[in-house]
Amino acid sequence: MTIQEKIQKLKREKNAIILAHNYQLPEVQDIADFVGDSLELARISAQVKEEVIIFCGVHFMAETASILAPNKKVILPDLFAGCPLANTITPEDVKSLKEKYKNYAIVAYVNTSAKVKAESDYICTSANAISVVEKIPEEKIIFIPDRNLGYYVSKHTKKEMIIWNGFCPTHQRILPQDIINLKEKYKDAKVVVHPECRKEVLDLADKIASTSGIIKFVKEDDGKRYIIGTEAGLLHRLRKENPEKEFYLASSLAVCPNMKKITLDKILTSLENLEPEVKVEESVREKALKPIERMLNL
Ligand code: 13P
Repeated sequence: MTIQEKIQKLKREKNAIILAHNYQLPEVQDIADFVGDSLELARISAQVKEEVIIFCGVHFMAETASILAPNKKVILPDLFAGCPLANTITPEDVKSLKEKYKNYAIVAYVNTSAKVKAESDYICTSANAISVVEKIPEEKIIFIPDRNLGYYVSKHTKKEMIIWNGFCPTHQRILPQDIINLKEKYKDAKVVVHPECRKEVLDLADKIASTSGIIKFVKEDDGKRYIIGTEAGLLHRLRKENPEKEFYLASSLAVCPNMKKITLDKILTSLENLEPEVKVEESVREKALKPIERMLNL
């Protein structure tokens, strides 16, 4: 039996579903039941029928699944798959911000720990950040923790925003000069980037979207070539679903070492042992669920 066959067999025996983020290794995406962006994965986690969720992504994503599906066993095949962006802010930081800016709403990007979410008023993802900030009644907002997504949102709304100074090191490695060089080579290529990119990169883009938003844009667009400014894993789906189009990764350095920690071997072992589990403690879960539900209900 191949490792893929072993995983599929065990998955059925253990009544498990495999969810994978768009940045996962190609072979991990290929064995998953569903591949998507963080908003899609959150929505699916809330509706899963299977008893076990094998979550192929990073820690905060598995925590979000655990918050939304408390009766399921959420397994993250490598517990060290973290998110340096999420680690730029602690619940104590959020408490201090709330003390200092009393009449501001805290809008937290989903790339935050469950404890930070528990201190926040609303959650957003890159797919809905502008619409969440637009739709909420508050006019004064503290946006945490991604400064680039915050910049992008602030450009599209009239609300007053204080922005935390965090960033994703993987997206930060994509430089404006990378885009300019590729544009010189492929003059007709469209520049499509994730809002976690530096603002100088965002300013060069034809389209800014979440990972699944990028996939949707490319599918519906009538162009042939695309310069993609996000993590390398997205190129797998883009090429698979659009074999007639050409894709150029903006920088060969745009590889997230944490997303790449999930391998087929680790998925197999985690299905055999049903661990390591990510379980958000109930007192935190109750508080973190509210801002997530506000987002999902908007
Ligand atoms: P998406 O919401 O676009 O999937 O992005 C998640 C993420 O962590 C980007 O670094």
